[in-house]
Amino acid sequence: MAASLKEQLDDLLAKLNPGGVFGIDIGAHSIKVCEISGTPGKFKVDKFGTYVLSEAAIIEDQIQKPEELIEGVLEAMKRAGIKSKVACIGLYGPNTMTKRLNVPEGTNEEIEDHIMWEAEQYITFGADESQVGFHIIGDNEGGGKDALVAAARNELIENFSKILTEAKINPKIVDLNILSLSNVFEEVYRDELDEYSQGTLLLDFGAQTTKILVYKRNGPIFTKELPIGGGLITEEIQRQMGVSYEEAEDLKTTTDENGNLPDEILTIINNQVDQTLAEVKKNINFYISQGSAEKVSYCFVTGGASLSPGLVEKLAALTGLEVKSLSIFPSIKIDQKKAEAGLEQLSAVSAIAVGLAMRKIN
Ligand SMILES: Nc1ncnc2c1ncn2[C@@H]1O[C@H](COP(=O)(O)OP(=O)(O)OP(=O)(O)O)[C@@H](O)[C@H]1O
Ligand SMILES: [Mg+2]
Repeated sequence: MAASLKEQLDDLLAKLNPGGVFGIDIGAHSIKVCEISGTPGKFKVDKFGTYVLSEAAIIEDQIQKPEELIEGVLEAMKRAGIKSKVACIGLYGPNTMTKRLNVPEGTNEEIEDHIMWEAEQYITFGADESQVGFHIIGDNEGGGKDALVAAARNELIENFSKILTEAKINPKIVDLNILSLSNVFEEVYRDELDEYSQGTLLLDFGAQTTKILVYKRNGPIFTKELPIGGGLITEEIQRQMGVSYEEAEDLKTTTDENGNLPDEILTIINNQVDQTLAEVKKNINFYISQGSAEKVSYCFVTGGASLSPGLVEKLAALTGLEVKSLSIFPSIKIDQKKAEAGLEQLSAVSAIAVGLAMRKIN
């Protein structure tokens, strides 16, 4: 009885506050949940929590350990103190896509028809089995409008939504993590956006994937997900040192009193970072070559693996760009007490979830 009354109250609260969603990013390494308040330019992170997953709980976008994910969502919410039952979830992987399209002028309906008609060609996982959304960025210099199209395969949406509904959460908004990255970037650098809109590279170094986003002319012009990430470092530590996944994760980040890692760990990190960055470079050559019409001038990195020692410096050397961490604080306010792990670490792992939580205001 008591439980059902509580459930009814929770439902009622959700209805009274229909725009109030919290953001949830179910990453390969950890689940992040975030609730924010305020309005653009004055956002504040009120609640943030994480839950670190065990090895291979998710592989690519396939959920291998649903029970653990359900428990992880609830535990992360509990740690954060999130009571809301309505979420904005971020999806990623090969069954999602974004594309910038030049569309002819027209009514919203005409533009939608045009986009759906073209969708067949670029939604490789099947336009008719997907949810497709779009957003008009603005006028295209060459005429018509610039639209940002996003799509996710129904099956993927269902699989991730099911985790939430089993945790008694309503996945009210489905977003893409890559778009969340773009949104959080726009929010953090809202005052300098004119400059950054000339061409900025955003990179999210996660556990299983590295996300590339080229931001130009007021929105993403190129996005790509590479199937490589910080997890490769963990795997290599496991293999070379004969330790478990958890032990390897620990070894990767446990420094001595001077902040240094043991040499053998550092060597593994260096090798993997070099490989990952070489792969990134291949994919962005067009955007960093001298004389390229689409050249970018700035670069920001985020994601847990962006904290790997030497990564920022190596990336700068490789691209010729000034590389900075996407520091979401203090542009977005946070209670210092919530930042136990340190703002730098928190900023790197939380950016996507914060961007998803921002969706309630849009
Ligand atoms: N200080 C650190 N130095 C190096 N690597 C780190 C550090 N902190 C976290 N990592 C690594 O970052 C990765 C987790 O980052 P993040 O939380 O961004 O990934 P995720 O969102 O769960 O994964 P994905 O985006 O691939 O789905 C792990 O591989 C973890 O070992
Ligand atoms: Mg991630």
